[in-house]
Amino acid sequence: MKTISATSKRRLLNLICVIVGTMMLYRGLINLTQYPGNWERILLGPIFLGGVYGIYLMYRRKRIGFWIFTALNFLVGIWFIYILEDIWSHHVLPHIVFSAIFLPFYCDMEPGSGRLGQFLGKSGRRLVNIEIITRLIIALPWLHKLVNRLIIDGLVSIVRTRPHPWSTVHDYVSWRGLTDRNWSARHMPPTDAPHSGKPAPKDLAALFSRGTRPQAHCPKSTLLFPTFAQYLTDGFIRTVSDQSDPDFFKKNTSNHQIDLCPLYGRTVEQTQVLRVNNPQRQDFGKLKSQMIGDEEFAPYLFLNGKPDPQFTTLDEPLGLDDILKQCNSSDPKIKNHAILRRDHLFAFGGDRVNSVPQASMLNTLLLREHNRLAGEFVTRNPEWDDDRVFETARNVVIVEFIKIVVEEYINHIAPLRLPLMADPSIAWQAPWNKPNWITTEFSLLYRWHSLIPDTVTWGGSDYPVELTFMNNLPLINGGMLQGFLDMSAQKAGALGPFNTNKSLVERIEVPSIEQGRACQLQSFVNYQGYIQRTPPASFAELSSDPAVVQLLDTLYDGRIEDMDYYIGLFAEDRIENSPLPQTILTMVAIDAFSQALTNPLLSEHVFNSETFSDYGWEQLRGVSCLADLLARNSSASPEQLRDVHMTRRDWRFK
Ligand code: HEM
Repeated sequence: MKTISATSKRRLLNLICVIVGTMMLYRGLINLTQYPGNWERILLGPIFLGGVYGIYLMYRRKRIGFWIFTALNFLVGIWFIYILEDIWSHHVLPHIVFSAIFLPFYCDMEPGSGRLGQFLGKSGRRLVNIEIITRLIIALPWLHKLVNRLIIDGLVSIVRTRPHPWSTVHDYVSWRGLTDRNWSARHMPPTDAPHSGKPAPKDLAALFSRGTRPQAHCPKSTLLFPTFAQYLTDGFIRTVSDQSDPDFFKKNTSNHQIDLCPLYGRTVEQTQVLRVNNPQRQDFGKLKSQMIGDEEFAPYLFLNGKPDPQFTTLDEPLGLDDILKQCNSSDPKIKNHAILRRDHLFAFGGDRVNSVPQASMLNTLLLREHNRLAGEFVTRNPEWDDDRVFETARNVVIVEFIKIVVEEYINHIAPLRLPLMADPSIAWQAPWNKPNWITTEFSLLYRWHSLIPDTVTWGGSDYPVELTFMNNLPLINGGMLQGFLDMSAQKAGALGPFNTNKSLVERIEVPSIEQGRACQLQSFVNYQGYIQRTPPASFAELSSDPAVVQLLDTLYDGRIEDMDYYIGLFAEDRIENSPLPQTILTMVAIDAFSQALTNPLLSEHVFNSETFSDYGWEQLRGVSCLADLLARNSSASPEQLRDVHMTRRDWRFK
């Protein structure tokens, strides 16, 4: 519930009061008027109407209303079971649900001032906080599904549905703006306000630089969390940043889908070169791979110091230029390290996968899963050709990945005890089920570089983070399983101000501020209105860190209304029980659900065993976290699988 804005939560409670109140009123009146002479029925009328009074009090935000409603609700159940001798099961569950629906709002209601009021207030708080409600909801799959739907639907409905009226091509509505997805979409129209009075991006970089401060760690996340976030976003957030393109920062090369292009390539031609050519039957549908020791990895991109010609169609890895320059360095140390890194780059579908060994590690796992599934399909479906095997394995792997996105990754981010489920049916009739289009705001809010620690440990050796850039050797030397265990055993950095590694500040944070300006994004304060939150009135309301307040106050001359969107996102305090601040969390949730659950493979007439085959259907049902895929594609023991997680073992809900 904490992910819903206060205004939406108020509206949701009002709506529930109206719906449940109307039902109770209707039933009260029916019992009073439609059973002449039947006193057992007539007396039930006032009990229902008393329940309506309880709901009215909750509508007025009085906690006592919850207790009146719950007591009378309980009485209705007893009355039906013992006096009207109706079947008990008809009444127990619905009446628990009716009361349970109001529980998440209990803390927002006012306690009574008397002793009874205070006692009930405390008891209710305990009731709200205890895990029993969560367990109860989980134990009733239909209820879990219903609550899951309500939460996801409520979140996505905070903002207007796609298509957004504007994109970065024009600052007014135009046909090109509505259809050409090479330009990034935008949630809010561009601002006319000139940027000249605002602080220079280089000065604002001070908000991200750690300086001499020690690195802050995230209390909730292991390094597996940013590893996954980076891999996920590299697949569909793809802003053009090459300054030789006159429209850099505004254009993108995204397919706007979770399509696993880091594994399969962005285009048909790229997919083709990643697949085994003219395969023997046992290799039907497989992606090219090599064995290093007894482990399967993608093939290398370079052969004998030259790009392997079979892979020229692939996008060149981002940052390759730097490595190639260093390969000619006069300093033998730099030169040898660069040559080693170059020769161990993998031929991957995505140009950003080689950027750090963590991302290569995830792609390797998915590559193995694809090839394993392809092998199974060949055995089980002798009539299938190479393409059918490939396409079906690809369908399964993409949906497995989306399940992990929702059921492991989003659940890690969410401050909720109740696990959310990847239930595709939520989107089938939803008004927000519209074609995806990545926005420029999304590309900025997802830049979580402060999660990256200064040092990353691989196989017992500590690497300063900059020595891991485009360096797959730690992964290859230690093996994939060890990589997952290592990433799960380390703390992620804390997302927020003064915490980005210096190697990433100039390279990423400064251009990010520039991107916001180039796209004429409205201020952070204006975006608060868009997501239905009350904007902070001062920097002190945004952040509890005096250093942040002082810095921003000075740079923006005390005017929070001028603060750049990107700056506000990362200056804001993190919320309890989540690794993220509220605005990022809300906007991630909106876009994550409305873009993941609208995947064509999850649509109503596609999401069935015919699309995935019986075996594939069963396989994708067995996946909800990375450890499930590791169990199939590594030699991990059950103990090791338990050690693979995005949430730190020492973390507890507050
Ligand atoms: C050590 C780890 C990381 C490195 C070396 C790295 C590197 C980079 C670089 C060089 C860029 C700029 C790309 C360009 O100029 O086109 C970038 C952008 C970006 N990074 Fe990272 N990154 C890392 C971790 C992360 C993490 C943990 C996230 C979390 C989600 C993330 C999300 C993004 C996003 C969303 C962008 C913008 C992409 C776009 O709009 O095209 N990165 N990163």
